[in-house]
Amino acid sequence: MSDQGCRLSQRERKLVAENVTKSFRHVATTIQVLRGVSFSLLTGEFVAIMGPSGSGKSTLLHVLAGLTPPDSGRVSLDGYEIGELSDREMTALRRRKIGIVFQQFNLIPALTLEENVLLPLLAERVDRSRLEKARQIIRDLGLWERRHHRPDALSGGEQQRTAIARALAIDPTLILADEPTGNLDSIAGQQFCHLLKTLAKEQSRTILVVTHEPAVAIWTDRVLVLKDGQIVAEFPTESCNSVRSLAARYEESLQMGQLENTL
Ligand SMILES: Nc1ncnc2c1ncn2[C@@H]1O[C@H](COP(=O)(O)OP(=O)(O)OP(=O)(O)O)[C@@H](O)[C@H]1O
Ligand SMILES: [Mg+2]
Repeated sequence: MSDQGCRLSQRERKLVAENVTKSFRHVATTIQVLRGVSFSLLTGEFVAIMGPSGSGKSTLLHVLAGLTPPDSGRVSLDGYEIGELSDREMTALRRRKIGIVFQQFNLIPALTLEENVLLPLLAERVDRSRLEKARQIIRDLGLWERRHHRPDALSGGEQQRTAIARALAIDPTLILADEPTGNLDSIAGQQFCHLLKTLAKEQSRTILVVTHEPAVAIWTDRVLVLKDGQIVAEFPTESCNSVRSLAARYEESLQMGQLENTL
């Protein structure tokens, strides 16, 4: 990867999305999923995306991670225009910088829990100390006793924690997490939110988390509301003094978005 693409003026902005559009063709129809999404994340920011089912949240995360090319618009990470990177360069960037927790986990069925977590590191031929750190993450997430199990012998919550461990094991500077607490009990969910907050505030990791849960979003700095492929509202969580008020603010944003769309 050349340094040419690295634009110094964007150093503070970790991730920038500008006018991103994406549609999918299905039989004879085209579904417009993202309709001009623009936002940026500053280094060390912890941000939530909330939105109804089907509003395009997972699609947006895939575009941000360089896994799905947008139809138009741009995404840059650390000043690198990801649309200008080759597949090899994008894979390398992802392996070094982006920890992704997929909504469907995407664990490899034939590998054990430990192998799933260590695989991205083995692909990078990291040294022993990095592998030990990754094993510590497995312990911290309460999975050590299960490390030799394959995914089909794990509960939904254990699979989710395995996906989280795999994302954190690469020591990412950007974490993209798609409903990472959906299968966790409320205590494990809140512990994970606390961990994310610590990673953002003490280690300047930049974190974008998709969630339906106001109790998760309240941990973040800012909420982006996605509706029908557009960001219809954005608000800082410090403007909400409780989980309930965040939920109300979110519902209100959705209704406002609906009003604006019909006007
Ligand atoms: N590969 C694809 N081919 C065709 N349509 C797709 C594809 N991926 C997503 N879609 C459609 O795009 C829309 C948005 O999907 P997406 O998964 O991004 O929604 P979401 O906001 O993450 O929903 P949920 O909260 O249910 O996870 C849906 O209508 C979905 O059917
Ligand atoms: Mg989704």
